[in-house]
Amino acid sequence: MPADNLASLLATATARLKAAGSDTPTLDARLLLQAATALTREDLILGPDLRLTPEQQSVFEGLLARREHHEPVSRILGSREFYGRDFKVTSATLDPRPDTETIIDAALKVMPQGARLLDLGTGTGAIAITLLAERPDASGMATDLSPEALAVAGENATRLGVADRLTLREGNWFAPVTGTFDIILSNPPYIPAGDIAGLDPDVRNFDPALALSGGSDGLDPYRVIASGADARLGEGGHVLVEIGAGQAGDVEAIFAARGFSASGLHRDLGGHTRCLGFNRAEK
Ligand SMILES: C[S@@+](CC[C@H](N)C(=O)[O-])C[C@H]1O[C@@H](n2cnc3c(N)ncnc32)[C@H](O)[C@@H]1O
Repeated sequence: MPADNLASLLATATARLKAAGSDTPTLDARLLLQAATALTREDLILGPDLRLTPEQQSVFEGLLARREHHEPVSRILGSREFYGRDFKVTSATLDPRPDTETIIDAALKVMPQGARLLDLGTGTGAIAITLLAERPDASGMATDLSPEALAVAGENATRLGVADRLTLREGNWFAPVTGTFDIILSNPPYIPAGDIAGLDPDVRNFDPALALSGGSDGLDPYRVIASGADARLGEGGHVLVEIGAGQAGDVEAIFAARGFSASGLHRDLGGHTRCLGFNRAEK
């Protein structure tokens, strides 16, 4: 029996991924088919009657099965686009989310010329590397508790051409940090520990636990960041943190108790408050 053509393979794969619970089955099926075949999107559009070789069909089947088991496409492909650039993603790193682009837009508005930035809990390096790539005059430091994540951030920094302006340090929040900065940023783990078991399997089974759990109420990292920020913030500096749903009031109170006043609230494309800005409060 001849192999199915591309159009019917894609239709079957899309139906399978939809049945497995993917929110984006058509896109997922296309990206996995492209990965299995090295065909471009245009090839798929212009050649619906093309047929895969048996080897390509077997690779595609393997990728589909992984997605049916809830592995995100970015993890299967080992790469995720963030702010228009491709970042390597591994099992040691959070898969950078489009919502985190909110903190990038907020930072670009307040970074002074020649800004020094500090990114706490950098993961793939998505925040620090994007800002350094957007602003060739800036330099900075990024930390993570995970040496494996830091190694990925290092690879991304080199590939995206900012490694000479980024210092990577391993350690617990501010512990490995030296110097002062114009802007301190973090997208810390902020899920209450008890909520992790109820997350989507795409997240629960594939994002590292270290990147998700913010302690019993999800706010522990904000307490540490708020308590250490003053010592590392230069004159007129800014703090920007990503937050989870419903955390704005609590996070503002945590920073207020450490002498910071809110300087901005930034919404993601879904309209949710995603990022808060702080400055030192007037004395
Ligand atoms: C939510 S992820 C964010 C990753 C990346 N900044 C992003 O936005 O995609 C949180 C990161 O904080 C790191 N992390 C967790 N606990 C930490 C700690 N005590 N000190 C430093 N980094 C920590 C995790 O390894 C993870 O890379």
